[in-house]
Amino acid sequence: MTLTAGIIGHPVGHSLSPVFQGAALRHCGIDVTYEAWDTPLERLDQRVELLRYPDVLGANVTIPHKEAVIPLLDELGGQSAAVGAVNTIVNREGRLFGFNTDGPGFVRSLRSEVAFDPAGRSFLLLGAGGAARGIAFALLDAGAASIVIANRTLARAEALMKDLEAVGRGMVAATSLPASPAGFDCVVNTTSVGMHGSGAGDQVPCDLSQADGGTLAVDIVYVPEETPFLRDARAAGLRTVPGLPMLIYQGALSFELWTGLDAPVDVMFEAARSELARRESMRSATSS
Ligand code: ATR
Repeated sequence: MTLTAGIIGHPVGHSLSPVFQGAALRHCGIDVTYEAWDTPLERLDQRVELLRYPDVLGANVTIPHKEAVIPLLDELGGQSAAVGAVNTIVNREGRLFGFNTDGPGFVRSLRSEVAFDPAGRSFLLLGAGGAARGIAFALLDAGAASIVIANRTLARAEALMKDLEAVGRGMVAATSLPASPAGFDCVVNTTSVGMHGSGAGDQVPCDLSQADGGTLAVDIVYVPEETPFLRDARAAGLRTVPGLPMLIYQGALSFELWTGLDAPVDVMFEAARSELARRESMRSATSS
């Protein structure tokens, strides 16, 4: 029996998940097709019910349904309940289990790409949206010593700080933007600044030239590959991690939850990179 999995979102046509999950499943010789399931909110409960069929392995969930999907599931695993968002659903004999692999994928990207262990380290998170939430919970879980959340809307940073304080581990503080990066081991851009199509503009809300030399600078934006934040960080001589690794590792963790196998991350990176390059060449061909 051919199994299916897919990504639930709206719109979902530009998602890279079908590209790199499909490549990983084919590479491992698993008979699973991974589809893009474009789902408006009014059809979300119907779509989720279909995941209970025996031929469905599970799903990824993306914008705008990561929160709305929670009441439709049977159990929440990992930190998804605390984060308040699910990006992975696993079908276990008709019961649906929700997980959030975004934050753990971020932590794994730091460990794998630059051998950076969050334990005992200080973090400045720019932004307090959904992505920042997942990352902050995963950083505390990985033993981060402190996290400062800096957001344009201070109240949102304070609300996230309160939720994080309930974990009872690590020091958490909230501030507004722009923020100074001085004295942090790692600065992470989780705002939409620099993201194609977001309308957030290119004004990096942090002067990276003030960062200490050893600071790691991470942008979770992956389109375009070269973001204003990464450009500033390199100009300041900082080590950097771009956004693609977080995307791949959250997907790798989903793959591992569905299949029980180690994800072939090199295959996933290769498939995602060639698709991004294909899209970029189409974009420049149509804009010239
Ligand atoms: P995501 O799920 O990707 O985190 P989100 O929940 O919409 O998306 O959050 C976007 C984040 O980018 C927010 O922290 C937002 O700040 P506000 O809470 O003040 O809206 C931040 N953001 C968006 N545009 C920005 C800009 N031009 N400058 C600084 N921060 C910006």
